[in-house]
Amino acid sequence: MGSMTEVKIARLTSQESASYRGAASCAPGGHLTDEQRPQPRFWVRHIPVYGDLILAPMAGFSDLPYRSICRELGSAMSYTEFVSANTVIHQRALTDRALRRLRYKPEERPVVFQIAGADEDAIVEAAKRIEELEPDIIDLNLGCPARRVCAGGAGAALLRDPAKVARIFRKLTAALSVPVTGKIRLGWDAQSRNYLEVARAMEENGAALIAVHARTRDQDYSQPASWEAIAEIKQMVSVPVIGNGDAITVADIERMLVETGCDAVMVGRGAMGHPWIFQRIDRDQVPIEEKIAMIRRHLREMLAFYGEPLGLILMRKHIPCYLKGHYRIRRLRHSLLRCEDVETFHRLLDELAQTLK
Ligand SMILES: Cc1cc2nc3c(=O)[nH]c(=O)nc-3n(C[C@H](O)[C@H](O)[C@H](O)COP(=O)(O)O)c2cc1C
Repeated sequence: MGSMTEVKIARLTSQESASYRGAASCAPGGHLTDEQRPQPRFWVRHIPVYGDLILAPMAGFSDLPYRSICRELGSAMSYTEFVSANTVIHQRALTDRALRRLRYKPEERPVVFQIAGADEDAIVEAAKRIEELEPDIIDLNLGCPARRVCAGGAGAALLRDPAKVARIFRKLTAALSVPVTGKIRLGWDAQSRNYLEVARAMEENGAALIAVHARTRDQDYSQPASWEAIAEIKQMVSVPVIGNGDAITVADIERMLVETGCDAVMVGRGAMGHPWIFQRIDRDQVPIEEKIAMIRRHLREMLAFYGEPLGLILMRKHIPCYLKGHYRIRRLRHSLLRCEDVETFHRLLDELAQTLK
C-alpha cells in the first residue's frame, strides 16, 4: 500500500483548500468609527456575532444559495447542512457532494460547519480535516432524529451517553483551533430529558456555544417545543445559548428571546421560503411581487451553484414554501413543481404574478 492510502485521513487537495482561503470575518460597519460601529450581540469564544436571528441548519435547504440570501437579509451566522464524519474520513478527497455542503461565500462569515458522527476518533479526525477549509466554528450534531443516523449512534443518539459527549468535546477542543459548538435536543425521550447534564458536559469540556432544539428525539413537530428548558440551560451555563423550536413568526421570536433569555433564536421551518423573517417581517406581510422576484433571484443563485438542470430541480422544492398561504394557484404550482427548463419556469412565474395580482 502506498503511503497516501495508509494515511486514512486524506488531506485536502491544494486546489480544494485554495478555493476556501482569504475570507476575513464579516463585521458590519467597516467604514464606521469605534463608537458608531454596532456591538456584537454575543461572542463564540473570539468570534463576534452581530445579530440575534440565525438560519437553522436544514439538510436539503440551508445550502450555499439559500444561506447566503438569508445571511444578506439578516441571519447572523451561517450553519452548513451536516456532513457525516465517516464520509469525510473514508474518502481520499472529499466527494463533490460533501464538498458542496461545505462551500461558502466569504460574506457568509461567521460560517459554522456541522458534523455528525458516532465514533469519537472519527469525529475528531473528520473535524480536523474540514477545519482546513477554514470555517469559523465547527459544530457537532447531537439532535438529528433520523433512524438511519441514530442507529449508528450519531445525531440525537449521542444524548444517551453524556460521558461520551464529554469525551468528544474534550478531544475536539484539544484538536481544533476553531471554537467547537453543539446543537442538542432535550434528550432521547420523555423518560430521559437529560439536557442539563449534556449541556454541562459540553461546557465543562470546552463547548463555546450550545444551540438547543427544545424537543426530545422522539417528539415530532406536532408537539410544542418546551422553551422553559432553553431558559434552564441559559441560566446554568456561561457560554452563549441559541434557542430553537417553533419560532415561526416575529412574535414567536420576540417571545422566545424574552421568555428564555437566549442569546439568539434559530429559525428553521419559519425561514423556508421566507428569508424576510431575518428582517423581522412575517410571511403574510411580503407582497407577492417581492416573493416572485426572490424566487427568480434564488433560482439564479441555484443555477450558478449547482448548474443546469440540477439547480432548477433542487429549486422546485422551495416553491411550495414561497407560495405558502396563496390559494387558487393549484395548476401553476403543479406546473412549477414539474418544470424542467428555466425559460418555462420564468414564464410560469410571469403567469403566477398575473394570477395573484
Ligand atoms: C428539512 C429539515 C432538515 C434539517 N436538517 C438539520 C441538520 O442538518 N442539522 C441540524 O442540526 N438540524 C437539522 N434540522 C433541524 C432544524 O435545524 C431545527 O432544529 C428544527 O427544524 C426546529 O426548528 P424550527 O421549529 O424553527 O423548524 C432540520 C430540520 C428540517 C425541517
